[in-house]
Amino acid sequence: MTPRAGIVLAAGDGTRMKSARPKVMHEVAGRPILGHVIAAMRGAGIERIVAVLSPDAGEARDYAGREGCEAVTQESRLGTGHAANAAARRLGNFPGVVVTTYGDMPLVTAQCFESSLGARERTGLSLAAFRAADPAAYGRVLLDGDGFLDRIVEFKDATADERGHDLCNAGIFAAEAKAFFRWTAALDNANAQAEYYLTDLPLLARRDGVACAVAIVDETDVMGVNSRAELARAEARMQDRLRAAALAAGAGLRDPETVHFSFDTVLEPDVEVEPFVVFGPGVRVRSGAQIRAFSHLEGADVGRNAIVGPYARLRPGAALEEDVHIGNFVEVKNTRIAKGAKANHLAYLGDATVGEGANIGAGTITCNYDGFDKHETTIGAGAFIGSNSALVAPVRVNAGAYVGAGSTITKDVGADALAVERAQQLEKPGWAARFRARKKAEKATKGGGG
Ligand code: UD1
Ligand code: MG
Repeated sequence: MTPRAGIVLAAGDGTRMKSARPKVMHEVAGRPILGHVIAAMRGAGIERIVAVLSPDAGEARDYAGREGCEAVTQESRLGTGHAANAAARRLGNFPGVVVTTYGDMPLVTAQCFESSLGARERTGLSLAAFRAADPAAYGRVLLDGDGFLDRIVEFKDATADERGHDLCNAGIFAAEAKAFFRWTAALDNANAQAEYYLTDLPLLARRDGVACAVAIVDETDVMGVNSRAELARAEARMQDRLRAAALAAGAGLRDPETVHFSFDTVLEPDVEVEPFVVFGPGVRVRSGAQIRAFSHLEGADVGRNAIVGPYARLRPGAALEEDVHIGNFVEVKNTRIAKGAKANHLAYLGDATVGEGANIGAGTITCNYDGFDKHETTIGAGAFIGSNSALVAPVRVNAGAYVGAGSTITKDVGADALAVERAQQLEKPGWAARFRARKKAEKATKGGGG
């Protein structure tokens, strides 16, 4: 196969987002838009990817680096053609085909790149286009009599008649690298926005006798995100995709529309999810587990047949083994809970290890933080932590021990011991009856008003 390289144009200022964040770093399903684009390119066998970034996009630069991409800077934002040309610094001598994409298309799929790459084989240059239900401000694609691209007209440069066309530019060009950069270097900016448009590239190719073949792709896949409203729409479509994928993989979603996924959520077959559940990044739920309503999970691993919620919160590092029960208003962070252990109500378990079959009473808190450092709590197998106990870490409650309700535990508790830390109960027989009698008498002598 001819080697493939990708160019992601991501140096635009994203003005319409009205955000200090680079547009491509806004997240869809818990992953930056740029990450979705990179993943789709990788899916099409494009290993070498160059992201074109603006000088002030430090966050995007770090992210692209972590994702194994190269980055080049477009010093000033002179348009998409100018941005594509900047990639020549890395790919000018690339011995294969380059494929471009706008960095603001979170729903793009590997298939979109494959389609454009396939069409390129017919002529030497190709473009992916889509039929838009509402073409809005997209560039319009006009075809010649043979079905090749005649030209692309940017919305701002288009006549009313041209705006009437529904075939739009998705920006996925494919061409052999040397030719591609010869054309990008020759673009000019004689248009309504005084920008170097990548969309003028086919005109230059024509002069070299190369026609631009057009591959039609799905509109949803290539929707561009230019505003907060479009970001919200992209999120909704991505959620639809993720819900459909979860159902197809055998998870039960009682009310799919109310369940929110991250790009990497894994639900094994026969997981049951009740309404109104949010999966942040990094969650795996194993077969037979139930995630009950209004729970929020991120960075968590839920074991087979475990029950989580309603109203539970699992934070990063929560690892629940088989048959664990985490009930309402229980928060778990960086804590491994062994098989069959239960924390059914109102508890905080942070930086802890809970042994098999342990029972964590309502109101139990692991006091893991002293304002400077985090400390660990270890609860042994079969231990029973009475309600409203504070376990002041670092501390260990050994296997089989009991902690009496209301205790503040600051010292380790031996295996099978009982630790109680509370004042002795004081009882004064008849006190309440005497108190009431005295109060009634006082009221009677005052005349009992109001
Ligand atoms: C662009 C296309 C339009 C197409 C639409 C599809 C051009 C001239 N227009 O319009 O035909 O229908 O996308 O979504 O290509 N960028 C840079 N440097 C720049 C300018 C932009 O890197 O100087 C990047 C942006 O970060 C963005 C992408 O290029 O990721 C597209 O720019 P954007 O401003 O979103 O272009 P559109 O107006 O959406
Ligand atoms: Mg755009």
